[in-house]
Amino acid sequence: MKFQEIKNNIYYCGLNDCERTIFDELIPLECGTSYNSYLVKGSEKTAIIDTMYPPKAQEYLDNLDKNGVDKVDYIIANHGEQDHTGTLPELIKKYPQAKIVTNAICKGNIKEMLLIDDEDKFITVKNDDTISLGDKTLKFIIAPGVHWPDTMFTYIVEDRVLCTCDFLGAHYTFEDCIAKPSKELEHSAKRYYAEIMMPFRNMCKKYTKMIKDLNPEYILPSHGPIYDNPNFILNLYEDWTADLGKNMVAMPYVSMYGSTEEMVDCLAKKFTDAGIEVVKFDIVTGDLGDLAMTLVDAESIILGSSMVLAYPHPMAANIAYLANVLRPKAKFASFVGSYGWGGNLFGKLQELLSGLKLEIIEPLLVKGKPKTEDFEKLDVMAEEFIKKHNELFKN
Ligand code: FEO
Repeated sequence: MKFQEIKNNIYYCGLNDCERTIFDELIPLECGTSYNSYLVKGSEKTAIIDTMYPPKAQEYLDNLDKNGVDKVDYIIANHGEQDHTGTLPELIKKYPQAKIVTNAICKGNIKEMLLIDDEDKFITVKNDDTISLGDKTLKFIIAPGVHWPDTMFTYIVEDRVLCTCDFLGAHYTFEDCIAKPSKELEHSAKRYYAEIMMPFRNMCKKYTKMIKDLNPEYILPSHGPIYDNPNFILNLYEDWTADLGKNMVAMPYVSMYGSTEEMVDCLAKKFTDAGIEVVKFDIVTGDLGDLAMTLVDAESIILGSSMVLAYPHPMAANIAYLANVLRPKAKFASFVGSYGWGGNLFGKLQELLSGLKLEIIEPLLVKGKPKTEDFEKLDVMAEEFIKKHNELFKN
């Protein structure tokens, strides 16, 4: 594969992975992914920014040969996770004069994860440090929290090209590495944000603003296409990281005999009638990525669960656990459910969500099918949510 030049001796040397169907062994991929790596040829020195996921190592190394890359002076590691550093051991063998340039935290991660012990192989950089490639300067911006503590960005100063590591990425594959804005790309970038970046929403907000102020001409993330119009992705991040979400209720549920779903449907109709968007999500058949995307926007979460033995259904517990980890912006929550012979449904679910700052609206647990008095209680619950949403969205 001939490397695509992005600008002025800066090349894309990454690879698509169209076959990969799941990331982090957690959430399905809809469009595969790419592992982006960049070759920067200065007038005196050459650098590679981020490397390659280990199963793609041979193809990556062969491509470097085919493109005549016979000398590399610096390998920049913006982040230690192995999808970007996994080929470092092979690269430092192939280019023995190359130094690994990274920050102190990332260096520690690389030593632990890749067992590269030789201290002389590393150049450790701090925020705003620079390295000259001759006519190009690499400037390092330490950006902890988007998404690991070791994350940094590399700015190619003269070309106004910013390599943002995982930040602003997408699980997406392409022929031409320059992004073509589309609803499909927006969907993929949002799904990626929901799964990977949403837990760090405030840091994402901070770095979105910082990058807007920096005003780069290009954004080069570590997954997905390159943005020659950075505002496409930066404006989306401004929307997704905003404190106020959408007038929307997320309703994930699992219902063994239909009673819990009946309660969910009753609430959903009342919300829809009140002009609130409802996203109902069948936990058993739904795609976790879709739910994560809903949680980017929803201001309320109502979790429905049947009982299994004396506990919440394990798949509902999994959703509560996942939501707690993803840290969505939702401000209100409640629970509905149905039981056969007993148990504590809500205590466990509420405990699993305890990391979120949620105001809990009075939940409702019924024995068997919901009855007239239960629907009256659902009316009260719905009114409480509607009142909260009307207050949030009165303007
Ligand atoms: Fe794409 Fe955090 O690695």
